[in-house]
Amino acid sequence: MNFLPVTDESLKKGAEIIKKGGLVAFPTETVYGLGADAFNPQALARVFEVKGRPHFDPLIIHIAAVRALEETADLSILDSKNRKKLFMLADNLWPGPLSIVLPKNKKIPGIATAGLETAAIRFPSHETAQKLISLSGTAIAAPSANPFGSLSPTKAEHVRDGLGGKIDLILDSGPSQIGLESTVLDLTCENIKILRSGGTPREDIEKLIGAVSVEKESEDEHGLSSPGQLKKHYSPKTPLFVFNREEIINQPAEASCATRERIALLFFDGSTREAWRKTQKPLKIAVIKVLSETGDIKEAASNLFEILHEIDNSNISKIIAQLAPQSGLGEAVNDRLIRGSVK
Ligand code: TXA
Ligand code: MG
Repeated sequence: MNFLPVTDESLKKGAEIIKKGGLVAFPTETVYGLGADAFNPQALARVFEVKGRPHFDPLIIHIAAVRALEETADLSILDSKNRKKLFMLADNLWPGPLSIVLPKNKKIPGIATAGLETAAIRFPSHETAQKLISLSGTAIAAPSANPFGSLSPTKAEHVRDGLGGKIDLILDSGPSQIGLESTVLDLTCENIKILRSGGTPREDIEKLIGAVSVEKESEDEHGLSSPGQLKKHYSPKTPLFVFNREEIINQPAEASCATRERIALLFFDGSTREAWRKTQKPLKIAVIKVLSETGDIKEAASNLFEILHEIDNSNISKIIAQLAPQSGLGEAVNDRLIRGSVK
């Protein structure tokens, strides 16, 4: 496995690997992706194998120009209202952290979409992702570059720790800007639905195309519209418990003394941490982290996975985390925290 900084040369190398059916981990603005040629079923099979990903969980297809929609989707099947909405969204929110589920083009092999007649398509804004796709001369199917069910990688080192040795190349371009996966929006039905909250806030979508619904949590693969949306997902290895602001301020940590647990407290903002400090005597909390000192939701989102990765590597026995305010990107932050938590 090669681990290379992004340069013209490493990008060319990456594109050659994709063309030959290999696997390349690459940065996007959301999280690192594990890329393969979206039209090559053998390469796609290896993506599932390397991630330990169930075959019922479809991949996102990445393109580097709106016109490439024609090669990956079949827009003739889309009804005219939703077609208009698609171009409203593409014109305003692409490139960016939005994956749009559309009727799939027949050329996309069934393994990419887990046998579904639809495909989630995304035009990422990260320059490296765009260049890799263009140089490969194809569309790139890429799930997040982590073992199935675990935290998404927001740094090339996370990819190396999780999948290194099993893939052909990791392109390193430093930490991901957004740090949360894309929003997945289903445009194939009249009732337009967010299947996964993510880097594009619901409000930004609704400004353009009107109200959309949000998929409720689902237990298993049966009857799921977004088969990847299992309840338990995005999990740190350390058991995670989530609380709202009031609850976390009053979180007694005495249990930690008795059981010698090493607890990590993860606050949303600095003001809650200070409020907590006032209510608590010095306790044996091993780690105190804050997603954003000032309570800036973008900063909080970009820090979330990185801090959880860090805690996972710090011999902590329990994470107590504060939920974010439930609006804008806060919906996606809370979705990840709740899915990753102990039920
Ligand atoms: O930000 C992202 O979306 C990252 C980067 C690499 O682009 N990718 C990512 O992929 O998070 P992954 O495979 O970890 O998550 C893909 C999600 C899953 O929840 C999957 O079920 C859903 O997208 N999805 C993909 N194709 C779908 C389809 N045809 N219909 C419904 N949901 C689909
Ligand atoms: Mg994933």
